[in-house]
Amino acid sequence: MEYIELEPLSIACIDSPPAPEPARAHAVRYVDHSLPSHFIPGQWCRAWVDVRNEGTQRWEPHPPDGQAVNLVLRVEQVTHQFPLPHPVDPQEAARVQMVFLWPSTSDPVVLTVDMVKQNVTYFSDARSALLQLTSNVTANPPTYGVDFLEFSSPATVCPKARFGIWVRLRNSGSLHWDISAASGRRVRVVAWINGHIVAGESLPAPVGPLQICDLHMVVSAPVVPGQYVLEVNLVHEGITYFKAKNVSSMETPLTVSSASVPAGAALYDTALRSNWAFYHPSLGVSRLADGTALPQVLERAKGCHVWDLDGRRFIDYTMGWGCALLGHGNDVVEAAVRRSMGCGPTLPLPHRLELELTDMLCQTAEIPCAEVVAFGKNGSDVCTLAVRLARQATGRKIILFCGYHGWQDWYSESLGFGGTGVPERQPSLVLRVDFNDTTSLTRLIVAHRRDLAGVIMEPSGASGGHRMVGEDIDLEFLQTAASATREAGAVLIFDEIITGFRYPKGSVQKATGVVPDMACFGKAVGNGYPISVLLGRHSVMRHMDRTFYGPTFKGEVYSMAAAQAALTLYRTEPVIDHVWAYGRRLQEGISRLCAEAGLDASIAGPPFRTVLHFNETDPKRHRLIRTLYLQELLRGGLITYSGIMLPSYAHTEAELEETLSVISSALRKVKQCNEGGLAELHRAIEIPLVR
Ligand SMILES: Cc1ncc(COP(=O)(O)O)c(C=O)c1O
Repeated sequence: MEYIELEPLSIACIDSPPAPEPARAHAVRYVDHSLPSHFIPGQWCRAWVDVRNEGTQRWEPHPPDGQAVNLVLRVEQVTHQFPLPHPVDPQEAARVQMVFLWPSTSDPVVLTVDMVKQNVTYFSDARSALLQLTSNVTANPPTYGVDFLEFSSPATVCPKARFGIWVRLRNSGSLHWDISAASGRRVRVVAWINGHIVAGESLPAPVGPLQICDLHMVVSAPVVPGQYVLEVNLVHEGITYFKAKNVSSMETPLTVSSASVPAGAALYDTALRSNWAFYHPSLGVSRLADGTALPQVLERAKGCHVWDLDGRRFIDYTMGWGCALLGHGNDVVEAAVRRSMGCGPTLPLPHRLELELTDMLCQTAEIPCAEVVAFGKNGSDVCTLAVRLARQATGRKIILFCGYHGWQDWYSESLGFGGTGVPERQPSLVLRVDFNDTTSLTRLIVAHRRDLAGVIMEPSGASGGHRMVGEDIDLEFLQTAASATREAGAVLIFDEIITGFRYPKGSVQKATGVVPDMACFGKAVGNGYPISVLLGRHSVMRHMDRTFYGPTFKGEVYSMAAAQAALTLYRTEPVIDHVWAYGRRLQEGISRLCAEAGLDASIAGPPFRTVLHFNETDPKRHRLIRTLYLQELLRGGLITYSGIMLPSYAHTEAELEETLSVISSALRKVKQCNEGGLAELHRAIEIPLVR
C-alpha cells in the first residue's frame, strides 16, 4: 500500500461572501476544521469541521418533518452526509465529525464541504460559500506519524484530581510500535499539562503502520486552579519524542476548578508515591466525568457501610475481601477484643484464649476433619502449610489445585514467572483442575498417581480459567475427588477460606459429608481480625514437626478473642441463612433487571459470592462493558471486588433495595452506551480499563 503525505491543507472559498445583504434563511460559515496529516488510499479517514449558523433558521439534526440539516462532503465523485451533533440556533456553532473512505488514488484529492437542508436546498444553491480543501501529495510516510482519531477527557476537574482520558490512535508512520520494555525501544503514550509530563502509558499491544489502537490513561490534575492545556503525544523510548519529529500533539483545554479538593487526595498521593500495593476498588480514578467523587481513602466502616474522608457513605460488598461476614466492626466481636486488650498481644507461651479456641474448633460439629489445629495470620499461611504437610505425609511432590489458594510461592508458580517473579519448574509441580470437571480431575489423578502428594480445592464457587467465580459444588465431583485422591494414596485438602462459616452448616464438608484430610479456614474466622487456621486429621497433621512453620504472630491474642466471639455468633445467630437469602434475592433481582434492560448477561457463583457476567464474545467490548458497569456501581455508591459481591449478615432489606436501584441505573447506562458503539463506550469510561 502506498502512502500519501499531504502538504498543509489550504482553504479556498470558491464564492467569496457578497457585500452586506439581507439576512438569508440558509447560510453557513466554516470556522475551523481538522484532517489527519496522512491519508492512505482506500482507508477510512476521520476529520471534523466547525460550522456556524449564519442564517435565520434553526438547524435541526432530526426534525419530525424530515428536513434535517446535514453537512455534505464530496470526495471525488462520492457524496457523504454527516449529521449535526445537536440542534444549532442562528449564530451558534457545532463540530461535525466525518468518517469517510479516502479514494484509492495517490493523486491529490479535492474535498468539498457544503450543507444541505433535506428536501429544501443545498446551502451553496442558496448562495452560501463552499469549503474546499486541497492537498499536495508525497509518496512516503515519515517514520513517526500518528493520527488522533478520537479523544475524550473531562473539561473541568478539581485540583489534584486523577482523571481518565481515552484516545484512539492510528500509526500513520512507517515505524512498528514495539511494546516490550526489554527492547528499550518501546513506544509509549505521554500526557503533558502545560508542558510538564503528567502521565505515561504503555500501548495495550504492538501497533504496526496503519493499525489503530485504543488507550485509556490516568492523569493527575495540577494543584493550582486555572486554565491549562492537556497534550497527548508519543515517545519512542531512548530515541525521541514524536513531537521532536514534527508530529502534532492532540491538545485540549483543561479547567482546574477551585472546587474543594477531596479530603483523601493528599493521603492518596502518599499511597501512589510510597505504597504501591494498596487496595483500591476504583483503580486509581478519583472522580467520574460528571464530577462524582469516588472513594480514595476510607475513614471507617460499620455494618455493611464504609465512609471516605469526605463523609461519603458507600455500601460495601467486598466486606474485607470476605472476612467481615458479620458486618464491619460487629459490636460483640469488638467488645471481646476490647476485653482482651491489656494482656499483651504476642506472648512467649500460648494465651488461654488460643487453647479455648482450639477446643471450640476441634470439639464441635461444623468442621468434621478437625482433630488438630495450627493457627496462622492469613489464608495463604495455612494453604502453604497444608501443601507442605501433604508433601511430607506422602513423600511426593505433585499438587493438583482447583481455585485460588493465596499469594505464596507454591501457588504463584502456577501463574507464571512474568506476573509473579516466582521461577517455574519444568515439569511443573502444581497443576490446575477445572472446578466440577470430574473427567479431567480423574484423568490428572490417574496420570500422576505415583507422585501425587495432594489435591487442594475450594469446594464451592472455585474460580478458575476465565471465570472469576465458579458455581456451587457438584456433589459427584466432590465425592470422586475424595475417592480418587485417596485411591492414589494422596491427601485431600479443602480450602474453606471463603466457605468456612458461610456455607450451610458452617462448612462444605459438614453440608456434603465429604470430609477432607485437612481444611484451611481464614477470612470469617476473626470477622476482620487477622487469624486463619489449618484443621486436620491427626494422621496428617502429625508431620508438623517435619514442616518448617513458625510465624511470629500466629498466637496473637486479640485476634483469638475476636475469633472466639465470632464463632459464638455463627453458632447462635442465623448468619448463613441470612447471607444466602440475601444473596439469592440479589441474584434474582439482578437477573430480572438484566432482562428488563434487554442485556445479555448472567449471574455466576453461589449466592454467598456472586458476580454478573456479560455474555459478550468480543473481548475488547467485553472489557469496556465490564469497566463501565463497575464505574456505574461506584457512581451509585456500591463498592465491589471487581464486580464480585459478598453479602454479609449486616446487609438488610434497605441495602438490598438501594443496591438493586443502583444496579438498575448501571445496567441501563451499559445498554445505552453499548448500543451507541465502541466509541461511545470508550467515551463513557473514566476508570482505566479493568482486566
Ligand atoms: C479460597 C481462598 N484461599 C486462600 C486465600 C488466601 O487468603 P489470604 O489472602 O488471607 O492470604 C483466599 C483469599 O482470598 C481465598 O479466597
